[in-house]
Amino acid sequence: MSNALYGTTVKTLTMQDITAMKQRGEKITCLTAYDASFSALCDAVGIELLLVGDSLGMVIQGRSTTLPVTIDDMIYHTRCVSQARQRAFIIADLPFMSYPTPLIAAQNAARLMQESGAQMVKLEGARTDTTRFLVEQGIPVCGHLGLLPQHINHTGVYKVQGKTSADADKILENAHQLQQAGASLLVLECVPAALAKLISHELTIPTIGIGAGVGCDGQVLVLYDMLGISIGKSPRFSKNFMHDAHSIRDALAAYQLAVKQSQFPTPEHSF
Ligand code: KIV
Repeated sequence: MSNALYGTTVKTLTMQDITAMKQRGEKITCLTAYDASFSALCDAVGIELLLVGDSLGMVIQGRSTTLPVTIDDMIYHTRCVSQARQRAFIIADLPFMSYPTPLIAAQNAARLMQESGAQMVKLEGARTDTTRFLVEQGIPVCGHLGLLPQHINHTGVYKVQGKTSADADKILENAHQLQQAGASLLVLECVPAALAKLISHELTIPTIGIGAGVGCDGQVLVLYDMLGISIGKSPRFSKNFMHDAHSIRDALAAYQLAVKQSQFPTPEHSF
């Protein structure tokens, strides 16, 4: 696949390439991206996965949660990102209430893939039936366990999940069920590092951690947090890579290298 904007012949990564990285023990780098310029910069420094997260509701739209984000918002931003990258694999979030049934999920995921160039969709929670149905339709799925921002009105606060042994067992069981249902990738958000390491060891699909310790197969951060430009306080598990950088490109490259060398996250950024 070559890139439409630049007409280049750089090969776009496939999920097989990403899985092969886990198999050979190479750390996978991921950042959120919401527009063409950051997409091209992240791509140029070698970030392998670009996640068009519904965090755009907070960092782009200035909302207090991700809940107001619509499927049309996701299509718009994913198109901006996918047009500007050459090599990175593009994952797009299915936003709040865009997957209440497997059929509605498939219809919205199809729009994301056809209208914006997403190569995979991400769903929050243990949605095994929906995952199985999407995979049957040819739609690659990334699961998302641990802290689920779309469930903020249940949980009340954004906090670490899986701290009791019963909660940890449930997350581990859900991770296996999602893999069994056909998910190709799993995001683990805000879970104890030991739990994320165990899940990463037991699953054959790659895990991508955010606030989940260095034992995951890859790492993701919200781009604006790691550049220190998010509104308000950044989460404890994030790191401002602009502190020691001369340019945004340097900061992205420093993040890429730190993840590759297992130097990020440190215990200070883990639970
Ligand atoms: O929406 C998002 O940016 C995400 C990441 C925090 C994993 O889901």
